Amino acid sequence: MQKLNIDLTVEVLSPEELTPEEASLVEQARLSTFRSYCPYSNFHVGAAIALDNGVTVCGANQENVAYPSGTCAERSAAFYAHAQYPDARFRVIAIAARGTDGNPVETPVAPCGACRQALLEYEMLAGAPVKVLLCGADRIYRLPSVSSTLPLAFTEF
Ligand code: THU
Repeated sequence: MQKLNIDLTVEVLSPEELTPEEASLVEQARLSTFRSYCPYSNFHVGAAIALDNGVTVCGANQENVAYPSGTCAERSAAFYAHAQYPDARFRVIAIAARGTDGNPVETPVAPCGACRQALLEYEMLAGAPVKVLLCGADRIYRLPSVSSTLPLAFTEF
């Protein structure tokens, strides 16, 4: 039997350790949580995507009484970004959340599996790693790429 080891290094940063661009993106993700529509979960998620055309596109989770009809913050941002700027490439995504108490979550939230798969496709279109910033109340996880969040991903192209 052979073994395949898949390594993932997550950098854990304090806010002061972020680059100015990262800090700005984190702030925009945090602000986006206030544009969440989440009357069913009360879990407010925001995402901010920096594109290579200089534009930052934000999204927030949008729920629906028919539960599966809602969408996560990451996909709301990603789909809007690509629908508005189909020629732009994703560079960085920041994701933030506030819990049911309204406060930023202590432990950074990571995108759900469906969002990882959706984001991966835009990373492949970009042809370069899309950096991922996951925001907790006082620490940020920095990951080198979307693909690092989805080992053994399904890719058909
Ligand atoms: N949610 C996101 O927006 N992003 C994720 O990656 C995970 C979950 C949303 C979906 C739902 O509106 C709420 O958080 C609770 O699951």
